Amino acid sequence: MAIIIVAAGSGTRLGATEPKAFVDVAGRTILERALRSALSIAEPAQIVVVAPAERLEQANTIVARAAGAASSSLTVVSGGDTRQQSVAAGLAVLGDGIEIVLVHDSARSLTPPTLIEAVIAGVRSSGNGVIPGLPVADTIKQVDWMGSVERTVDRAPLVAVQTPQGFPRAALVDAYKTASDDFTDDAALVAAAGLAVTVIDGDPLAFKITTPWDLARAESLVAASPA
Ligand code: C5P
Repeated sequence: MAIIIVAAGSGTRLGATEPKAFVDVAGRTILERALRSALSIAEPAQIVVVAPAERLEQANTIVARAAGAASSSLTVVSGGDTRQQSVAAGLAVLGDGIEIVLVHDSARSLTPPTLIEAVIAGVRSSGNGVIPGLPVADTIKQVDWMGSVERTVDRAPLVAVQTPQGFPRAALVDAYKTASDDFTDDAALVAAAGLAVTVIDGDPLAFKITTPWDLARAESLVAASPA
């Protein structure tokens, strides 16, 4: 089993001077927190960190510090201009014998290890893609380009999806071979290639740190329950 942690984004919306993965959340970088969560799962994994090309040295330092005595194998590779290219770079270095691959956003830094384990178990038992999702709490409107409301969308069947997203390796690799570069998550990409994808219960802690407000939320969560 392998976990690809994509951490090569610039994080423009966070407004930080550093690429997002290297921004601090209460004394540890976003990447280190994501990595520690992945290293805390019960079974050993090949963990691939996909980092910005110009930050490989810093990523390697973070990986070495987080790894400690962990039994998982860790590799750092450079990412691409899009998330999809970054995932492809991670897929390219997976070792022999890996049958299940999880793709995880480093920006979902506080994801509990139990959620990672639930995704792995789901892929293992179903052979499908498995992704975490949460019910949509807000009312959703479809609007035109002027902002005029066209309709209220029924939110009952909607879920807001998170990562890690898990897949049988062969299906994910095949889907990446044929994918065009315009999918916003891996589940959409494999579904377009014909693989069934199932949603399991997500976790509010797996929220993506995108804006300064998200960062403040992550900091107060860590302060309330320091790891
Ligand atoms: O930008 P956004 O927050 O949606 O990115 C989701 C995840 O994908 C982040 O963890 C980010 O580091 C990663 N990413 C990447 N390579 C890119 C763009 C985003 O690894 N070119």
